[in-house]
Amino acid sequence: MKAIRYSRYGGPEVLGLEEADEPRVGPDSVLVRVRAAAVNPVDWKCREGHLDPLLQAVFPVIPGWDVSGVVVRPGVAVPEFAPGDEVIGYVREDFLSRGTFAEYVAAPVRTLAPKPRNLTFEEAAGLPLTGLTAYQVLHDVLEVKRGETVLVHAAAGGVGSLAVQLAAHLGARVIGTASEHNHDFVRRLGGEPVSHGEGLAERVRGPAPGGVDAVFDTVGGDTLRTSVNLLAPEGRLASIVDPEVVDHGGRYHFVRPDPRDLRRLSELAEQGVVSVHVSETFPLERAADAHRLNQEGRTRGKIVVTVAGETEG
Ligand SMILES: NC(=O)c1ccc[n+]([C@@H]2O[C@H](COP(=O)([O-])OP(=O)(O)OC[C@H]3O[C@@H](n4cnc5c(N)ncnc54)[C@H](OP(=O)(O)O)[C@@H]3O)[C@@H](O)[C@H]2O)c1
Repeated sequence: MKAIRYSRYGGPEVLGLEEADEPRVGPDSVLVRVRAAAVNPVDWKCREGHLDPLLQAVFPVIPGWDVSGVVVRPGVAVPEFAPGDEVIGYVREDFLSRGTFAEYVAAPVRTLAPKPRNLTFEEAAGLPLTGLTAYQVLHDVLEVKRGETVLVHAAAGGVGSLAVQLAAHLGARVIGTASEHNHDFVRRLGGEPVSHGEGLAERVRGPAPGGVDAVFDTVGGDTLRTSVNLLAPEGRLASIVDPEVVDHGGRYHFVRPDPRDLRRLSELAEQGVVSVHVSETFPLERAADAHRLNQEGRTRGKIVVTVAGETEG
């Protein structure tokens, strides 16, 4: 099969389109023909070696954790899926080797859920990692409740755009940080946009003079430190980027594969509660350009890589 691979850590230039063996399918895994794979910042962070202390790279590495595609063959002990089923997945294992930027991926069944029928493969590929992150932080870490005010940073980005929609669905009032050109986009998602950078604290205190009940930090550093002072008494703080959050009484979260959460997200997409905005698509062979673009840090919604197959499925 064709796959994007890298054999050493480095810049986007280490990514090459290569011929790779089709992955073996374990007893509780599923062979999926990949139709689309979304790019996440963690993909290039892994490629540059930043996650080396956490995740061993077994070179050559196929990057990518997000997938939408069609089941080719379930493993011998997987009654949940049948050939032809359309699925989505957050295919993260605890090492780097067999990612989703390929024609096929062997996905552990715990990483999969049915694809939302109303989403294109491109849109669906953008849902798992960002959706699970937003869902787990809002439900399990921040425990957001109806009527509360939540501050979501990078509200126009992959995680932020899902978090705004999910928090609004929970009945929260959502303030989302974004550049001016993304303010209408954030409004359409159900949030009240404020610009980030210098003067952020004053801009948030305007609509939330008593402070916010919860902060969802996706930026870290100064943004996290500023956010601490914007919390109402008893306010909760979560970060997905800055472990320093624990020094401020908050929690750090690293998204987990969870088939129940992913199935719930798929249902919410089918109900029209959450949508995925795809800003750009690239064919598999241009994966390096997709990484480059995401690395600029200005992605609205998702950048997605599409994978052409020999047969339509
Ligand atoms: N721990 C975990 O489990 C986990 C899971 C997912 C993601 N993450 C991390 O979370 C971060 C966000 O991920 P993502 O997928 O949402 O990234 P992304 O889609 O690439 O984010 C791009 C967005 O960031 C916004 N942005 C850039 N600088 C900002 C700032 N200073 N303040 C507010 N917004 C800013 C940009 O908005 P404007 O153009 O409007 O400025 C852009 O829309 C990444 O570092 C990623 O690695 C961690």
